[in-house]
Amino acid sequence: MLQDKVLIREVGPRDGLQNEKQMIRTEDKVAWINQLSKTGLSYIEVTSFVNPKWIPALADCLDVAKQIEREPGVTYAALVPNQRGLEGALEADIDEVSVFMSASDTHNRKNINKSMDATFPVLKEVVQQAKSAGKSVRGYVSTVFGCPYEGRVSIDQVVHTSEKLMEMGIDELSLGDTIGVATPNQIEEVLLALKGIIPIESLALHVHDTRGTALANVYQAYQLGVRRFDGAVGGLGGCPYAPGAAGNVATEDMLYLFNGLGVETGVSLEHLVDSAEFIHQKVGRPLPSHNLQARLAS
Ligand code: HMG
Ligand code: MG
Repeated sequence: MLQDKVLIREVGPRDGLQNEKQMIRTEDKVAWINQLSKTGLSYIEVTSFVNPKWIPALADCLDVAKQIEREPGVTYAALVPNQRGLEGALEADIDEVSVFMSASDTHNRKNINKSMDATFPVLKEVVQQAKSAGKSVRGYVSTVFGCPYEGRVSIDQVVHTSEKLMEMGIDELSLGDTIGVATPNQIEEVLLALKGIIPIESLALHVHDTRGTALANVYQAYQLGVRRFDGAVGGLGGCPYAPGAAGNVATEDMLYLFNGLGVETGVSLEHLVDSAEFIHQKVGRPLPSHNLQARLAS
């Protein structure tokens, strides 16, 4: 029997590629995104308008965003850290802008070169201008479940950062397990703390699979009412400012889980694994996706 529907946010072309050592050609990124657009996904984060000195793998952000073929019904999003990034995203006519910051000050400083307090006004301005330009806005809170520099992050910090982002008028808040340390009890703890403050319909979960708990965390969040999940095809991904962090949960592994549970996603598993196989050939290293490994072994 079908349960209800979940929304998958594909972040592979952004989070998945931002940390890859092997430079992927712009035309290959564009071909991959075009392929992803035909899998039934309704949301693809295609790139980041950040400083190419810090994230050289996405230096072609404007070209990628301009060259992809837009499929009706698909939202194309990009990461934007500041005013300069917003200008690029608007020039490329991105549908949705994703602002981001951390719940721990040290990671925030390493990642975007500012204290948390100094970040709030910058993001507030970006959100206002993106909204005035008719764009929807997503917010990320990173290091929700642990920081590579500070260790455990207090729930108060997570709640405070999430509330400040929501007050800016964002449409969706993605909770990031940046370094892949969370276990299902922590997912419950954070969701309970946010209950009554942020509607569960506005929350998304963004997990990295460093310690093998990503799918268990997805399942836990689903049981507790979350219906939006970020994933990266192939299990690609990692934050350059989170040393040792592994890839995102593989979108196709998440899909396999939801299919088995009878939860509707609208996405074709077969086509998604095709797109994992495509990008696997381009990055030139084995990828952690279980469904890709199963395909390659068959
Ligand atoms: P900054 O150095 O503080 O910026 O960088 P600045 O305002 O002082 O300017 C310095 C230089 O950067 C100037 O150039 C600016 O023009 C340029 P110069 O005059 O030296 O030639 N600059 C830019 N260039 C291109 N695009 C821009 C831009 N802004 C300034 N938007 C900044 C601040 C945030 C830009 C920088 O620190 C940066 O790019 N950081 C990269 C952050 C990043 O992409 N991290 C990975 C993504 S976050 C993540 O992975 C976590 C997530 O997945 C969730 C999770 O897993 O938890 C989302
Ligand atoms: Mg991430």
